[in-house]
Amino acid sequence: MRRTRISRRDFMARTAGAAFAANAVMLDPDAYGKSAFSLAVSPPRAVPPSDTIRFGMIGVGMQGSGLMRTSIELPGVECVAACDLYDGRVELAKEIAGKPIFTTKRYKELLDRQDVDCIVAAVPDHWHKQIVVDCCQAGKDVYCEKPMTHHVPEGFEMAAAAKVNNRIVQIGSQRASSVIYRKAKELYEQGAVGDVCLVEASLGRNDPCGAWVYTIPPDLSPETVDWETWLGTAPKRPFDPKRWTRWRCYQDYGEGIPGDLFVHLLTGIHTIAGITAPPARASSVGGLFRWNDGRDVPDCISTFYDYPKFHAMLRVTLNTSAEEGTYFFGTGGMLEVHDDRVTVWAQDGMDHEPCTPGWPRKMRADYAEHWHGEHDPKPGSQQTMASQNFYTPPGYNDDREHLWNYFTSVRTRQPSVEDASFGNNTAIACHMANHSCDKKAIAVWDENAKEIRG
Ligand SMILES: NC(=O)c1ccc[n+]([C@@H]2O[C@H](COP(=O)([O-])OP(=O)(O)OC[C@H]3O[C@@H](n4cnc5c(N)ncnc54)[C@H](O)[C@@H]3O)[C@@H](O)[C@H]2O)c1
Repeated sequence: MRRTRISRRDFMARTAGAAFAANAVMLDPDAYGKSAFSLAVSPPRAVPPSDTIRFGMIGVGMQGSGLMRTSIELPGVECVAACDLYDGRVELAKEIAGKPIFTTKRYKELLDRQDVDCIVAAVPDHWHKQIVVDCCQAGKDVYCEKPMTHHVPEGFEMAAAAKVNNRIVQIGSQRASSVIYRKAKELYEQGAVGDVCLVEASLGRNDPCGAWVYTIPPDLSPETVDWETWLGTAPKRPFDPKRWTRWRCYQDYGEGIPGDLFVHLLTGIHTIAGITAPPARASSVGGLFRWNDGRDVPDCISTFYDYPKFHAMLRVTLNTSAEEGTYFFGTGGMLEVHDDRVTVWAQDGMDHEPCTPGWPRKMRADYAEHWHGEHDPKPGSQQTMASQNFYTPPGYNDDREHLWNYFTSVRTRQPSVEDASFGNNTAIACHMANHSCDKKAIAVWDENAKEIRG
């Protein structure tokens, strides 16, 4: 039974591979970056609809463990291998799998395996680029957590690797798959709130865990963690359990608030408004007000972005708890979006009283009489105004939806809902926020040079 399935896959891989090889030689290596091009030999491989998709998990930490649990509950999806650099998480992977799976501390061993169709990766941000490029070059599709990149140039290398190797790359900002954001997009496109010229998005936290002060596992040591590999391309330093556990607090591995939290808000805005490029400019203020624990990133940051049709203001603090919300302000009202609901607050944009500021009494009274005669609705003619609410169904989980979309793309070869181009645009917007904050200058996106100036 199993043998039949593999030979069917091999057949598809070979026939698709021949066509792909013909295409690959026509691609211009300079357009994609040499490293992405040099190994452009992986054929596209579709998983037949009847087959189970078998994935390998790289990084079984806070997010990875949840993704793994959720994925193995999906119909037609199975985890066959897992990789982490810490013994405790290798153990956790085995617990989650609930059956024997291949485990290792070397992720490339997953890429070499024939029984791994695709990868789900949830490693710290400084590892995203290398793992995505290696997956693509090994012929494996990859779900990679947000933000897509740690540095701007990486995004273009990753996108090229996906394109040249004909791989599905999906970035893990789950709002791109949420029913709420899809509904908000539909309402926005229908013009439910008219012309939007301002968007505001914010959230706040007020607890150590929310500020990334995660408890250090008691057995963490150079014996239980492969620290040298974990550092990857980051500056070398002696084993540091704080950095391993709370890596978001350090620029060597993360991007602070923008990379961790703005990225979700930006994904929502880009999804709803159909944004397909980075913002033109960004201007930030930020500071480290409270969590003086050795971190080198702000705990509070606000950024204004310029988009073609509106400007967007994002603000996130780790010092006060506040509900996450995104607000599209339009000439026809306000679209209010939260994780679990979207509301249209309709406005008619009209005067409801005569507008005669500072007029003397008689002039005002004469005008008012005339105005009311023309504008007051006829008795019995008024209708209710439609403000609309939409909620998630009970127990809704957008991570599950996002993973389902990924595995569906792996199966069907249809583009992912959050491909490398989408992920790159939101990641660049995050880097622009940090750039502006660090340099105390306006960050300008240079589309030709593909870099941030200012
Ligand atoms: N989409 C979301 O809502 C969401 C939520 C949390 C985290 N994330 C993202 O998920 C990623 C992981 O975050 P986390 O909080 O789970 O981090 P974490 O530190 O809890 O877990 C990361 C794990 O990756 C392992 N790892 C690191 N480098 C590796 C390598 N080269 N090979 C194999 N394993 C390696 C580490 O040992 C660790 O166990 C980050 O990119 C983060 O931004 C996304």
